[in-house]
Amino acid sequence: MCGIVGYIGSKPAREIILTGLKRLEYRGYDSAGLALMNGEPRIFKCKGRVKDLEEMVNKSPFDGNIGMGHTRWATHGEPNELNAHPQVSFKGNFIVVHNGIIENYLRLKKHLEGRGIEFKSQTDTEVLANLIEHVYIEGDLTAEQAITLALNRVEGAYGLVIICTKEADRLFAAKKGSPLVIGVGDGENFIASDATPIVEYTQRVIYLNDDDIAIIKKDELILKTIRSERIKPEVKELDLKIGEIDKEGFAHFMQKEIFEQPRAIHDTFRGRVLPDHSGIMLGGLHNVLETMSQSEKIIIVACGTSWHAGLLGEYLFEEYSRIPVEVEYASEFRYRNPIINKGDIVIAISQSGETADTLAAVKLAKGKGAKVIGICNVVGSSIPRETDAGVYTHAGPEIGVASTKAFTTQVTVLAMMAFEIGHLKGIISDDYYRELITELVSIPGKIEKALEVNDQALELAKIFQDTHNALYLGRGYLFPVAMEGALKLKEISYIHAEGYPAAEMKHGPIALIDENMPVVVVATRDDTYDKIINNIQEIKARKGKVIAIVTEGDEIIKKMADYILEVPETLTAFSGLLAVIPLQLLSYHIAVLRGCNVDQPRNLAKSVTVE
Ligand code: G6P
Repeated sequence: MCGIVGYIGSKPAREIILTGLKRLEYRGYDSAGLALMNGEPRIFKCKGRVKDLEEMVNKSPFDGNIGMGHTRWATHGEPNELNAHPQVSFKGNFIVVHNGIIENYLRLKKHLEGRGIEFKSQTDTEVLANLIEHVYIEGDLTAEQAITLALNRVEGAYGLVIICTKEADRLFAAKKGSPLVIGVGDGENFIASDATPIVEYTQRVIYLNDDDIAIIKKDELILKTIRSERIKPEVKELDLKIGEIDKEGFAHFMQKEIFEQPRAIHDTFRGRVLPDHSGIMLGGLHNVLETMSQSEKIIIVACGTSWHAGLLGEYLFEEYSRIPVEVEYASEFRYRNPIINKGDIVIAISQSGETADTLAAVKLAKGKGAKVIGICNVVGSSIPRETDAGVYTHAGPEIGVASTKAFTTQVTVLAMMAFEIGHLKGIISDDYYRELITELVSIPGKIEKALEVNDQALELAKIFQDTHNALYLGRGYLFPVAMEGALKLKEISYIHAEGYPAAEMKHGPIALIDENMPVVVVATRDDTYDKIINNIQEIKARKGKVIAIVTEGDEIIKKMADYILEVPETLTAFSGLLAVIPLQLLSYHIAVLRGCNVDQPRNLAKSVTVE
């Protein structure tokens, strides 16, 4: 995710753009850039945050009445000045800021390189800028024609703002997949990734639709489709406060991130699953997949929620790849003199890519000769830089301290890895491989459905908001989910909660159960279903209050449990991805009702860079 702001009018553009970019920093903050037009273009770019860009820009008196800026969350190419946006085409006629991923950029790049065009950055955006320039020159076209033609050759997602230096009385904007909104002013117009940079200037906005192209002048606005058909702009009145828009209408970042999971998971497998579901291609593992498939042991190291994802990884790798797995707290692993044999694989899982203990575990494993693979969300962070290979989750920035979409996207990557290795080893047949991939592709839609329990979760939260303790139980794939549910509750609502393997309850936690003890049983229909029914009976016999997470239409547990929350049916491999959703919602609502600071819970941090 990246943030984009553009301005055209009579005011100095620089301040408007910099202020707007600061409001969009939640979308990414690894590098930033600004282009201003005043007869000639001037471009400022730097690694770091918008305040670093501002410092740089403030050293120059240059300003203009047309401009655009970008705050980046790196996908292609590490965060540095060269890869920061705006990207400029090879002849300098087109200046581009982009949010999204051009999926066929490698093919397009090869084609352009074949025509002698040289590239300066590693970005997919520069490929697009050069493609536009190329067709502009070759076809002797107008800027609008060149942009339209180029976009017809592009696959993937984009929110784009483009300046053509030869037609500098207008901004071009185009949207597919990534959001863009135009602010309609009086003698001035704005464009941005969301309305926060716009609201203080105008309340009148036009939300671009996919495949729209806008030609924005200071007092004229033309909207067309990518097929050059004219469309009537639909102007809407904004009715939102800045704070609300920042969170896209959600009350908290955590809530927004819970509801973003269908999109986040889709982004995680997008471009990695073959369109006919016959295969998975994890580009980042290309060179190590063979070694991974021959390894005798996988050691997963992580902290917090990422460690819970790792536990699910254990079930996935052992079942689908038939490789023994150990899951280690990074903080324990690094101080234990662990036994790592040649050929063992170490997988480090970390949303931030900066967690100090996980980073230290990576260095230790490398020192002992292991191949180290990373599963991280933040591109260019320390762990991906240390590891031999890896896969990014592409969940987008996670701002709420309690991790939600990072967990489900990490599990998505682990599942893809396990399936790909299992298939390579011949453990999974072609047909089963395809069945698993088809189910994976259906998961975002099923999560949408699972999110429909939101209102019921709120009602349950009202009943249980004053509890002091809670027990979370699950078996098999659902045991790590129970642990994750308990962690979510304790970290944001400060209620003591424990996650336990359901059968292990008999060896201790059962002593805690009485009529005041809420017991959340994760009991969707999978391989352990029959067994967990017995555990529910044991809780009920001791008058515990059972909240069961069940598969849609489960009449058996419905009769036994005090309350149920339903999720759609899926294959066992994906049961955790669905079952965790009601648990996230339940803890979120309880924390809100208790008046807790959901996004910044006390004593916690998003990225723990001390050991
Ligand atoms: C902190 C965060 C957790 C996160 C853990 C590991 O404790 O509050 O949400 O799960 O760190 O972070 P990582 O970035 O390595 O996944």
